Amino acid sequence: MSAWRHPDAVADASINVRFVQQLAREAEAAKFDLLFVADGLHITAKSIPHFLNRFEPLTLLSALASITGRIGLVGTLSTSYSDPFTVARQFSSLDHLSDGHAGWNVVTSPLGGSAKNFSRDNHPEHTLRYRIASEFLSVTKGLWDSWEDDAFVRDKARGVFFDPDKLHALNHSGEFFSVARPLNIGPSGHMLHPIVNGRPACNFCSSS
Ligand SMILES: Cc1cc2nc3c(=O)[nH]c(=O)nc-3n(C[C@H](O)[C@H](O)[C@H](O)COP(=O)(O)O)c2cc1C
Repeated sequence: MSAWRHPDAVADASINVRFVQQLAREAEAAKFDLLFVADGLHITAKSIPHFLNRFEPLTLLSALASITGRIGLVGTLSTSYSDPFTVARQFSSLDHLSDGHAGWNVVTSPLGGSAKNFSRDNHPEHTLRYRIASEFLSVTKGLWDSWEDDAFVRDKARGVFFDPDKLHALNHSGEFFSVARPLNIGPSGHMLHPIVNGRPACNFCSSS
């Protein structure tokens, strides 16, 4: 709550892109695996001061992608107040911009006041939020598999931009989401799939 008052603290750190870029450069030079941007969707006058005035995570990470190389860029995005197609597209874009170093901190938004910022009367309760999140993730992962890695052949001589056999429609119709079409961005070709003993190291990584 009061860290911003420390004599050495940068008082506008949460909205100061030069400061965050410097942090990112130092973290990368020190061989940190990733940097992480937290987020929330509801504030009051009693919120942590830096929460009152801060960057939207993916916008900030896109700016950091242009000045970093290997460090992971992880952004928080809520499955309760977003749409899978948009989120899949945003993270795919960040993955391209960062040469395959994008990561998603999936949250369901614990703050009830968020509903009033998104034209909703009610904030979904905990179990429902996680049911939505589960379907949200499977739709997003499905969208990321719209295009196979080598789908865009871009053969100028033959006039072939992509191989239709390597394009996959999703046709998802579920409890909370209906998403028919393929995503309009392909894989970065650098997507990291951590493997431990031959198996993906995280729940959200596909086995391919
Ligand atoms: C390291 C860490 C970072 C988190 N960052 C965020 C965040 O940026 N935004 C957010 O809404 N929740 C964040 N959370 C909260 C989680 O989304 C979650 O609500 C919390 O762990 C409690 O679990 P529950 O939702 O099952 O009650 C974070 C939790 C942890 C452990």
